[in-house]
Amino acid sequence: MQTLAGKKILLGISGGIAAYKCADLTRRLMERGAKVQVVMTEAAKEFITPLTMQAVSGRPVSDSLLDPAAEASMGHIELAKWADLVLLAPATADLIARIAAGMGNDLLTTLVLATDSPIALSPAMNQQMYKNIATQENVDTLARRGMLIWGPASGEQACGDIGPGRMLEPMQLVEQCEAYFQPKPLSGKSVLITAGPTREAIDPVRYISNHSSGKMGFALAEAAAQLGASVTLISGPVNLQSPHSVQRVEVSSAQEMHTQVMNVADKHDVFIGCAAVADYRPVSIAENKIKKTDDNDDISIAMTKNPDIIASVAALTANRPFTVGFAAETQDVAKYAKNKLAKKNLDMICANDVSIEGQGFNSNDNAITLYWKNGEKCLPLSSKKVLAHSIMLNVHERLSVSNS
Ligand code: PMT
Repeated sequence: MQTLAGKKILLGISGGIAAYKCADLTRRLMERGAKVQVVMTEAAKEFITPLTMQAVSGRPVSDSLLDPAAEASMGHIELAKWADLVLLAPATADLIARIAAGMGNDLLTTLVLATDSPIALSPAMNQQMYKNIATQENVDTLARRGMLIWGPASGEQACGDIGPGRMLEPMQLVEQCEAYFQPKPLSGKSVLITAGPTREAIDPVRYISNHSSGKMGFALAEAAAQLGASVTLISGPVNLQSPHSVQRVEVSSAQEMHTQVMNVADKHDVFIGCAAVADYRPVSIAENKIKKTDDNDDISIAMTKNPDIIASVAALTANRPFTVGFAAETQDVAKYAKNKLAKKNLDMICANDVSIEGQGFNSNDNAITLYWKNGEKCLPLSSKKVLAHSIMLNVHERLSVSNS
């Protein structure tokens, strides 16, 4: 089906092993009606030849900023204006760093500076390079500037490592392009999301908390915004930048989160409780730092139940939003998740097994099974960003069913 009919995609290829997949990617984009103009960095040409890319795209490849002949036909400014979408795949750590720094030291980075078209990039590199704080900060910077970050996927890498950093497969990138050009499914919808941990104070310097990093909730906020929703993110203390165009409210304790959520929940179409909210808090907070004493080896802290935020939202009788919970389980995941779905009166629950290393709390990846009344869907291990996109598309689908 010509799902990309007439769409002009400028495919920027940088020098990573995944560049060899770009011939297939180009072919599949063109099968769906897209026009593909390939731009290659010098390093990309070490992995796949311009001749191959010219043959599959049916257009001469652009690779030089200072080539008078190329500038005389379609110069870099014209190229920058031509594209409906600039797709950088594979986007290496080096390309991402140069774009984040605003450099224009080759044709591709100059095009990125010169275009006002949307830019999507599909990171591809060794997993350790991807996890490096410099790369993470660069990716965050580009996401905050509004670039679409598609991937990476996790798995076995060309170098033998296992982890995040694989370019999305050509068909996954085609699907992202198709989704991008479709009308934004969540436009006109408002989504409220909680993320991160809560902190329950014991005394002025100590608290009880958990290992939530906020990554899952922030990825959901980013995906919802990219799908056209207006997004409010109520977050516990985390070390993450706000996604582009998302309104962020910072809280610390479960009670504060409860208050902030209940202030606005009935003004939203969807509520997603991704925060790892402490179930209990100390009955009282000591006024001064609790001192260690010689006569007491043990101390006890009396705890009391926190309000259940998501259950309070689901119990709203007027303007109740479509309510999606998470279930963080270490055993009998399906059974406990389904119990929570019913007990808290949720419309959907995202179950994750947080006992498996490399997913769940404080990781870049996760695997989720969605449950709703009479249905379920498995979303396999993937980066939280990719997963968040799928979750939001499923929320949209269930929301449409419940509204029909
Ligand atoms: O933040 P990351 O490091 O990316 O990790 C992501 C995550 C593991 C935290 C996330 O995927 C997740 O599972 N979040 C929910 C964690 C949790 O508290 O699960 P639960 O099974 O204890 O709670 C069930 C649901 O009730 C959740 O939607 C929770 O937000 C909500 N809840 C719980 C207690 C409470 N007092 N109020 C609530 O609203």
